[in-house]
Amino acid sequence: MSTYIIQGGKKLEGEVSISGSKNAALPIIAASILNAGKTTLYNLPDIHDTQMMFEILKSIGGKVTKKHNKVIIDTSKVNKYEIKEELMRQMRSSVIFAGSLLGKHHQCTFCYPGGCDIGTRPIDLHLKAFEKIGINISQNYGNISCSCDKITGEKIDFEFPSVGATENAILATCLAEGKTVITNAAREPEIIDLQNFLNKMGANIKGAGSNKIEVIGVKNLKDVSYNIMPDRIETGTFLCMAAMTNSNITIKKANPLHITPVIDKLEETGCTLKIEKDNIEILAPKKLKAVDIKTMPYPGFPTDLQSIFATMLTTAKGTSVIIENIFENRYRYTQELIRMGAKITIEGKTAVIKGTKKLYPANVKATDLRGGASMVIAALSTKGTTKVDNIEYILRGYENFDKKIQQLGGKIEIQK
Ligand code: EPZ
Repeated sequence: MSTYIIQGGKKLEGEVSISGSKNAALPIIAASILNAGKTTLYNLPDIHDTQMMFEILKSIGGKVTKKHNKVIIDTSKVNKYEIKEELMRQMRSSVIFAGSLLGKHHQCTFCYPGGCDIGTRPIDLHLKAFEKIGINISQNYGNISCSCDKITGEKIDFEFPSVGATENAILATCLAEGKTVITNAAREPEIIDLQNFLNKMGANIKGAGSNKIEVIGVKNLKDVSYNIMPDRIETGTFLCMAAMTNSNITIKKANPLHITPVIDKLEETGCTLKIEKDNIEILAPKKLKAVDIKTMPYPGFPTDLQSIFATMLTTAKGTSVIIENIFENRYRYTQELIRMGAKITIEGKTAVIKGTKKLYPANVKATDLRGGASMVIAALSTKGTTKVDNIEYILRGYENFDKKIQQLGGKIEIQK
């Protein structure tokens, strides 16, 4: 595993451009199976997770060609419907292939994604939705085989607004016979991006972004080109990086409307934000004020920014209370922050953070994707040299992370 060596303690300055959204790109790459033709994607982030998705596509007969600023996917020759276990285990969110393989080819075999760094990651809601629309599911030794003669539109009501299960339900019913109505659907912006992409392909979907989505099945879908939306979690990551390092930077190519709860909370800590179309300028105060956050499904405060925001609060003035309502194990990063001098106590879903004057350099490690980004932010705000190990977690979801930080004047180097 590689390491970041970070010389922290100095302000950042200048501008940084946000990449395409990882969590919009992954379902859209899977959705390219539905037209059994050509899909051209722009603004796709070049990160480990998208590379993994291409590996899986190629393993089932897909072709992927990377050109300068675009990726061309050809799924006309997809002729295998099993996702290999070793690929599945490397990326749990590859379960998103199930919906499009079933939607197009009426068959798919995959293994249980298994737990990961932030929780057990069950897929019961995905499987219940599949059964509702007529898919037969058999399981043995952790393998799940799904098949059907046809898919009929149905009413699907989710007991929890799961992002992945909502996306899989949409993908599986685009080519179904009849109409599907999904209620208590997840409302994340990435689902709106998926709807826009699929409708451009010729699908007939409406309601994404609300808790009720209607999918009217169509006969077939055509070749398409599409521009992926900006990554709202990367945007929040750089905003919190600026806030914790007492910096004044401008973030370009963002969509501020996707992160209003984060912007509100940053203003509560004393940051000044100036928003102009897709640019956000942030000016951090000398000392941040403590705030409380509670993660919720969209449009609430995003769980993906919980660790990043909490890290920023470790040197705020006062005590902050964090409640993580989405994943059951998303506080592992706090052990690493405590090694840097943070004062954090965890009680179930709640983390209490007592603001300290400053953190101290240390040898720490990334515990997961967002926890890793949090450690980088903590290191940049701390005078001295901090090593962050296991940075492969970070490379999964942040494109050119070190280069972007260097562009802002941050001292960060990769040690292989
Ligand atoms: C998506 O994961 C994102 N990943 C996650 O981002 C994000 O944290 C999450 O949505 C919540 O916003 C991608 O989009 C690739 P869920 P997903 O299904 O779809 C439980 C990141 O850092 N659940 O909404 O897996 C589940 O255990 C990643 O970029 C079930 O119980 O999230 C969790 O507690 C991390 N049964 C909660 O719902 C199911 O069948 C939310 O999961 C499915 C989910």
